[in-house]
Amino acid sequence: TAASPPKHFLQIDDLSGDELAELFSTAAELKVAHRAGKDHAVLPNRSLAMLFEKPSTRTRVSFEAGMTQLGGHAVYLGPDTTHLDHGEPVADTARALSRYVDAVMARVFDHDALESMAAHATVPVVNGLSDAAHPCQTLADLFTVYERFGGFEDVEVAWVGDGNNVGQSFAVGAAMAGIDLTMATPEGYGPNDGVLARADACGRAPDVVHDPEKAVEGADVVYTDVWVSMGEDDVREEKLGDFEGFQVNDDLLAAAPKADVMHCLPAHRGEEITGDVLESDRAVVWEQAENRMHTQKALLVHLLGED
Ligand code: CP
Ligand code: NVA
Repeated sequence: TAASPPKHFLQIDDLSGDELAELFSTAAELKVAHRAGKDHAVLPNRSLAMLFEKPSTRTRVSFEAGMTQLGGHAVYLGPDTTHLDHGEPVADTARALSRYVDAVMARVFDHDALESMAAHATVPVVNGLSDAAHPCQTLADLFTVYERFGGFEDVEVAWVGDGNNVGQSFAVGAAMAGIDLTMATPEGYGPNDGVLARADACGRAPDVVHDPEKAVEGADVVYTDVWVSMGEDDVREEKLGDFEGFQVNDDLLAAAPKADVMHCLPAHRGEEITGDVLESDRAVVWEQAENRMHTQKALLVHLLGED
């Protein structure tokens, strides 16, 4: 009989609501084990290839350290280190890597490259950020909200800034979790219609507005991401102009005096967020960053562990 196709994780809604809940419970256990220094090498001898077309601090190190803690190994393939950047097609790269490793994580410019990789790989493919989505970030974001509020019910989140990759995945993930989300973006920078339809199918599309103060009013969490994403340097000046008024600063947060502040990082102080806010007690960004590792380990266990 033919082997069953591998599970991929290209979008947050590649997981069902039940799988997401189970993943958070595994992440919580793994976090306790890690902090207690307790052995949890549940994926011995497994290997993960990590392919990057762009820079990374958190994604690379959280996956690499996570694989080591699970008893496995991760191979870093940075920009310009494989034949991918020298004419070998994605499909060929995916088929060759599948013969060596148990899963592939990739950070790419064009989301279609991930789709092609998943179509040809015979092992799970994980999205480590594309132009369209950053589902691994959403796992950490939702887990952080869960830890902070003990659940998702009645939690109001205001997204302020660009509605691209991180925002799009968060919109769908928030809908899956049952978070009440309002997104304030400049005109033309909201999540795309396909994303809104997927969020709607999960129960609640976010309200998309263009007035940050309106979005933030009474929020429990205010979340932002950079205005100029990796690879967007050519439109930097244009974007800085378009995002004027969308900075997360003390004035804006006066409308949500108790809100936590989230940021996927890296942060550009003085652009989307002020240094004061980022360094304040209300910022939970280091928890978020840490939770990348615990939730991704839970994801690897879900994708590679025995059923
Ligand atoms: N948030 C995030 O993905 O960070 P890196 O770009 O450092 O991996
Ligand atoms: N939107 C940002 C996220 C970085 C983790 C980017 O694409 O550069």
